[in-house]
Amino acid sequence: MSLDIVILAAGQGTRMRSALPKVLHPIAGQSMLGHVIDSARQLQPTSIQVVIGHGAEAVRERLGADDLSFVLQSEQLGTGHAVAQALPTLSADTVLILYGDVPLIEVATLRRLLCKVDPEHLALLTVDLADPTGYGRIIRDDAGVVQAIVEQKDATPAQRKIGEGNTGILALPRARLADWMARLSNRNAQGEYYLTDVIAMAVADGLVVATETAQDAMEVQGANDRIQLAELERHYQWRAARQLMSQGVTLRDPARLDVRGAVTVGRDVLIDINVILEGCVVIEDNVSIGPNCVIKNSTLRRGAIVNANSHLDGAELGEGSDCGPFARLRPGTLLGPRAHVGNFVELKNAVLGEGAKAGHLSYLGDAQIGARTNIGAGSITCNYDGANKFLTVLGEDVFIGSNSALVAPVTLGDGATTGAGSVITGNVPASTLAVSRAKQRNIDGWQRPLKIQK
Ligand code: UD1
Ligand code: CA
Repeated sequence: MSLDIVILAAGQGTRMRSALPKVLHPIAGQSMLGHVIDSARQLQPTSIQVVIGHGAEAVRERLGADDLSFVLQSEQLGTGHAVAQALPTLSADTVLILYGDVPLIEVATLRRLLCKVDPEHLALLTVDLADPTGYGRIIRDDAGVVQAIVEQKDATPAQRKIGEGNTGILALPRARLADWMARLSNRNAQGEYYLTDVIAMAVADGLVVATETAQDAMEVQGANDRIQLAELERHYQWRAARQLMSQGVTLRDPARLDVRGAVTVGRDVLIDINVILEGCVVIEDNVSIGPNCVIKNSTLRRGAIVNANSHLDGAELGEGSDCGPFARLRPGTLLGPRAHVGNFVELKNAVLGEGAKAGHLSYLGDAQIGARTNIGAGSITCNYDGANKFLTVLGEDVFIGSNSALVAPVTLGDGATTGAGSVITGNVPASTLAVSRAKQRNIDGWQRPLKIQK
């Protein structure tokens, strides 16, 4: 069975009160429409058609991709009208309708729905709600067979008591669609062309409407304002936290972790409170992450420790290495096995060899640092002359005295030492001490200035 997917995303979203088109508002760091497109892709359809209108250019610019077609609906005349705009480009057996502002729909649910559609059956996803206000209601006959959907505004008081709501998500045989679209009318309370009217048409044409029920109402919940957006965000995060815990992660508080990307985890990982994991993050067995850390596009090898308040972006921590509290590891940071980075240390495009240490208050940029080398407190690489960046290369077992400034390009051989406070502008051969600072003078009987009497 071939499949075309149509995603409706033309609505304005007035209640967001935003310059950003509604479907570009993010859940877990990715636009709502982006989530829906991701789910659609997993169904491997023949085509994905995104119906855009409000903010069309911004949506196209942000999400454009080779496997997507955008269809412009310049006036929003209703969900039926929106689908009709995509009709000429559809060619598959089945058409699945999704919504750009219903981001948490799960692929497994869609697969269950798609099992029920064929040339004689429509498949409709419904949801049982304690308060169905605003939803189209599912009208069934005495035998429980679906007959129609009636919108809230067109419903009789008796119909409004029905708790089974229309999620809007449905799958239908494409061959029938052109005929049904041509028969839509806007003679209803809202003056719109309702997609939901195809249900009664299908029944009249002798098709049967099969239903599937969403187990989790949040999965089919749309975001119309920022309050619903926040509810969906929390639901997403709760789902992400539960998945991590099921894979062997201890979360000190599952409500205080935010996942904004794809996280791979090993077993016996410990994550303390207020951690943000962003982008592509790989966390191996026995890693421990302290409170208030932001970890983006990074890999933490077995047993690595990230202490409190550290910020990692594009870093790799080797086995048993550690950093922080208050470490900042920028793109291109690579800590070798058991390397140690302490507090207020910033690394960028820097490799620390096995067991190397930078314990306190350092900036190491564009640097290659050999195994067991020790960087004294306050030492920095001067990697930038205001125009270009240069490399600092330190061999193995180097000892950099505190508050040294290493002016790149510069190379220090294995076992070299620098005296505290030195400004190193030239290469230092292996096993050599380099000192470059004024000699100390002691002045006997020095009198401190006295306060002037008024
Ligand atoms: C729709 C359903 C209703 C269902 C509810 C679930 C219809 C007529 N009604 O109602 O049965 O219970 O969703 O939330 O379908 N859109 C367009 N172009 C348009 C109109 C809408 O792209 O011309 C998009 C909107 O951006 C939105 C979605 O379609 O993402 C739903 O439209 P909306 O007007 O919110 O429909 P509801 O009144 O909520
Ligand atoms: Ca809606």
